[in-house]
Amino acid sequence: MALITNAIKGTLDTLPSSSYKIQYIEAAMREIAENYGFYEMRTPVFEHTELFQRSVGETTDVVQKEMYTFKDKGDRSITLKPEGTAGAVRAFLEHGLFNEAMPQKIYYVTPCYRYEKPQAGRLREFHQFGVECFGAGSAAQDAEIIILANEVFNYLGVNNISLEINSIGCPECRKKYQEALKEYFKANYDDLCDTCKGRLEKNPMRILDCKSPVCSKIAEKAPKILDYLCEDCNEHFELVKKYLTANNIDFKVNPTIVRGLDYYTRTVFEFVSNEIGAQGTVCGGGRYDGLVEELGGKPTPACGFAIGLERLMLLMDTQKTEFPERKKCDLYIASMGEQANIKASALAADLRNEGLSAQFDTVGRSVKAQMKYADKIGALYTVVLGDSELESGRAVLKNMSDGTQAEIELADFTDNFQSIVIKQAMDSLDGYGIEGLEITDILGGQN
Ligand code: HAM
Repeated sequence: MALITNAIKGTLDTLPSSSYKIQYIEAAMREIAENYGFYEMRTPVFEHTELFQRSVGETTDVVQKEMYTFKDKGDRSITLKPEGTAGAVRAFLEHGLFNEAMPQKIYYVTPCYRYEKPQAGRLREFHQFGVECFGAGSAAQDAEIIILANEVFNYLGVNNISLEINSIGCPECRKKYQEALKEYFKANYDDLCDTCKGRLEKNPMRILDCKSPVCSKIAEKAPKILDYLCEDCNEHFELVKKYLTANNIDFKVNPTIVRGLDYYTRTVFEFVSNEIGAQGTVCGGGRYDGLVEELGGKPTPACGFAIGLERLMLLMDTQKTEFPERKKCDLYIASMGEQANIKASALAADLRNEGLSAQFDTVGRSVKAQMKYADKIGALYTVVLGDSELESGRAVLKNMSDGTQAEIELADFTDNFQSIVIKQAMDSLDGYGIEGLEITDILGGQN
């Protein structure tokens, strides 16, 4: 029987000891996306099942095998989103964003659900940071989102991640290609898995993406889409490459990338690492010029990508990437007796109003135990309040890193605390570099 204290297979908890890392990553992504004019869109975690069937595609692994689909109490078929694009397109249409200034650029950070076999970097609940751009069909736009993704990796200090690009053409050039594929796979029909046998007539390109080892072996020698591109698609692809080169972005053309979702047209790309095992694709995306129309809108070119946050974290942990420190407790106010504890609570509130992090005892422990706790949580400063401090209006402030002590007046406590911290920093740095720094910079951490 399942233990109720065990998380469901394929899901992860993020504990306070590491959540600051993911917050840092997300904050960087949000800031970079906004520098490119992408703004956040939030959509529900579940949608009508049909939305994913129509967009991701009936013959994809995601729709055929991996969706969390259930009937709600109103007998509607509901699916937990397996990816972020479909919901974004649905919202773009529902809220008439096509009437606003084009291109419309949005980003999201969202949980996603796929019933896949869990392994390192592959979860059943995972998170994507994604961007989508509606209304720009140019190669420049494809390049811009690739440059954005690249900037995210650079900013975060991720190394050894390679960009692979391909073009899978438009429906026109794909017709000839599909025929060539059908012919090739028919010759290998008996060896294909049952799912791929079913895909052969409906959507032979999906066989290229099958995870079964036999099918992927057969797929290796299949005809390549790049040999079938029409002139326009070819020109578009060449231009994408020129933009990337002009932006000093290294890339490799990988003609085997077809992506696992049906909506793509023309440019597709992946950022891949070989340091995190089989699930090395950290980011995937591309152009999807037909999807808005497929879901009932006017023809609208679009493109986007998504980065898997857990995979990115796995890579950064593998590479021992440095993160800015977690916000620390700036001052722990230890107290003896109820009056002192009430005062501690008021002083902590004042400090927090100034953006500082302050804590005091809410357990009722001895001063010794409180100081032990302050040390454990890494408090930068401590002060002890008792009856005599309340009477004299003065206490002793201790700098926990070097043990130095300073007298502090309780009246205007927050101002006094800040002055002492600044003075100590000036003394230790001889004033060098202190100008223009905020108190929160001096105290450090992610204040
Ligand atoms: P995708 O390649 O299916 O594309 O997923 C994007 C990223 O999500 C992957 O590169 C990977 O990092 C992460 N990911 C996918 N499945 C899992 C999993 N089971 N466990 C952990 N991480 C996973 C899309 O979803 C498209 N919607 C991307 C896109 C946006 N294309 C255009 N716009």
